[in-house]
Amino acid sequence: MTLSASHPLMDGRTAGSPLITAYRGGAPSRRPVWFMRQAGRSLPEYRKAREGIGMLESCLKPELAAEITLQPVRRHDVDAGIFFSDIVIPLRLAGVDVDIVPGVGPVLGSPVRSAGDVRKLPRLEDSALDPIREAVALTVAELGSTPLIGFAGAPFTLAAYMVEGRPSRDHLGPRTMMHADPEAWQELAAWAADASGAFLRAQLEAGASAGQLFDSWAGSLGLADYERHVASASARALDHVRDLGAPLVHFGTGTSELLAAMRSVGVDVVGVDYRLPLDEANRRLGGTTPLQGNIDPALLNAPWQVLEEHVREVLAAGASAPGHVVNLGHGVPPETDPAVLTRVVGLIHSIAPGESPL
Ligand code: CP3
Repeated sequence: MTLSASHPLMDGRTAGSPLITAYRGGAPSRRPVWFMRQAGRSLPEYRKAREGIGMLESCLKPELAAEITLQPVRRHDVDAGIFFSDIVIPLRLAGVDVDIVPGVGPVLGSPVRSAGDVRKLPRLEDSALDPIREAVALTVAELGSTPLIGFAGAPFTLAAYMVEGRPSRDHLGPRTMMHADPEAWQELAAWAADASGAFLRAQLEAGASAGQLFDSWAGSLGLADYERHVASASARALDHVRDLGAPLVHFGTGTSELLAAMRSVGVDVVGVDYRLPLDEANRRLGGTTPLQGNIDPALLNAPWQVLEEHVREVLAAGASAPGHVVNLGHGVPPETDPAVLTRVVGLIHSIAPGESPL
């Protein structure tokens, strides 16, 4: 199976865009930039659109999800939309009792602690993904030549919420489970891989031009645990979409020691958080992989001169890689002044790809 002839990546709309060109290691017409969590609380129009509607409920209203996805693209002139949804949406669509509690994050009614709990997990039916397909179709019809990025949570990060039942700092629950009950762990990781894989496939088939796997909490794992207990499940999630030929990105935080292992699950691009300069990330990856990142979100609230110097350093370090898509090292903090993000985009676009940023 491949994407249909009328898909934006196939019909000439997005294949030559700066984002897709850089993801494929080519020479883009301008430096592409987008921001993780560009849709969200930093935007007054987002807060207004979400008034009185729960987070997950708003993800499942196709017109609202499309509108929220488009808001930052209209405002900032970024080079991609990121589909407004959440990594726990496939759980909700499968019938798992999960909600996003404001100020807390994902919370499950019944945490998954044993092999028996894993076996009781419901199957995600393909038709349950229809609201996702509809929202993506509405979004890409408006985006024109700007590509939409689809995404899903990697099995470890999803399992971190499923085992703990709520956000945690050290993710002790899933890290214990992979050693104490490896069979239950493997079954849980496989369930999460298949749910995320189906969610990502629905977005790509409906019109997204690239896919990003978020393993936000993989940095709590040592390399040996990542390779032994996690990598194959992440590869399994991506096995659902490889035949489509869309560029795939893999991102996590605190993953400086895991970058090569995260590439090995089979992706085209590695996302780097703000801790590791991109020239060092490129060195660790042997100079063969396009990178995405890694403006420190903390500096969005620093004086402009300080921020500008940092952005220029990120561009200079990124230029060593065979492709660079500019992003933050993690999501936009909710208190960010959106005018600063627009200004950062303007700065990045004002420096031609061949020009030195320093
Ligand atoms: O612009 C975008 O990036 C929009 C799409 C998006 C959301 N969540 C919307 C959202 C994406 C790509 C995600 C992924 C996601 N969700 C991740 C991986 C990325 C990352 O940030 O590391 C994770 C770990 C989650 C789980 C999750 N969902 C958390 C930790 C939270 C924050 C809880 C809080 O209140 O701070 C959410 C909620 C969430 N997902 C919001 C948004 C815009 C905030 C909801 C609100 O407006 O209150």
